[in-house]
Amino acid sequence: MSATGTMPTVTLRGGLQMPLVGFGTWPMTGREAGRAVSEALEAGYRLIDTATMYRNEREVGRAIRDSGLRRDQLVITTKLPQERAGRERETIEASLEALGLEQVDLWLIHWPPGGDARPDTWAELLRARDDGLAHTVGVSNYSIAQLDELQHTSGEMPPIDQIPWGPSLLDQRLVAELAERAVVLESYSPIKNTNLRDPVLTAIAARHGVTAAQVVVRWHLQHGFVAIPKSSTRSRIAENLDVLGFSLDPEELRRLDALGR
Ligand SMILES: NC(=O)c1ccc[n+]([C@@H]2O[C@H](COP(=O)([O-])OP(=O)(O)OC[C@H]3O[C@@H](n4cnc5c(N)ncnc54)[C@H](OP(=O)(O)O)[C@@H]3O)[C@@H](O)[C@H]2O)c1
Repeated sequence: MSATGTMPTVTLRGGLQMPLVGFGTWPMTGREAGRAVSEALEAGYRLIDTATMYRNEREVGRAIRDSGLRRDQLVITTKLPQERAGRERETIEASLEALGLEQVDLWLIHWPPGGDARPDTWAELLRARDDGLAHTVGVSNYSIAQLDELQHTSGEMPPIDQIPWGPSLLDQRLVAELAERAVVLESYSPIKNTNLRDPVLTAIAARHGVTAAQVVVRWHLQHGFVAIPKSSTRSRIAENLDVLGFSLDPEELRRLDALGR
């Protein structure tokens, strides 16, 4: 099975086109991070997920430069650590310096600082966006109530929330609440959150001649969730992106959705 066609994208409010499958870079650092990101770009990933906290922005930046890809072919995400709330500007400037970029595509608040939505931090992200340091800004690990608080205080709902996800964490109510607000769901730890030996998953995988991990990624894609699986193994890096050559039928999707109950 090989990837066919182009990776579908979802457009965030503000116009950023996010590929539905991207590459997660935590907890890789140093040479391992550089090598894996290079292999991911070579395999065809165009969305790369890093964060200040991952301490690999420099290696991500180098891999981007070495790839020879044009800047406008890539979607680069980084994140503000919660303990940097109040020091937003210096933090994004340090990220840009480490990445060797003039702008990131997406800058997220990594966690609600101290467990609070922190509209003041959100205002700083919006300001950085308006000043051109990030094309789009959003959040990670925010609840619906916290998203609403940001909307109420700033008039701007974050267009994306990166949260732990996967078939076994599927929560239809949350999906509906995010959709009502036009907030795109970006799934982290999609593989770790899944029992790859689950018989439902392995049976579906066998039927399509793919791996359980590929079924998990494909499930995200068909639901319109952005998935950012990480691997430091060359073959798995390619495998996780190679999901365009098969599709899950409605019954298979229903059985996978039921893993969340
Ligand atoms: N916003 C947040 O708070 C937050 C939190 C956690 C993660 N993230 C982001 O989300 C990304 C992904 O999450 P994650 O790294 O926690 O979990 P993940 O991507 O779901 O799982 C990674 C693990 O799965 C293994 N794996 C990958 N592909 C596989 C395959 N095809 N078959 C079998 N095993 C496979 C990897 O092993 P090998 O590497 O050995 O191949 C690794 O042990 C992170 O890298 C990070 O960018 C964000």
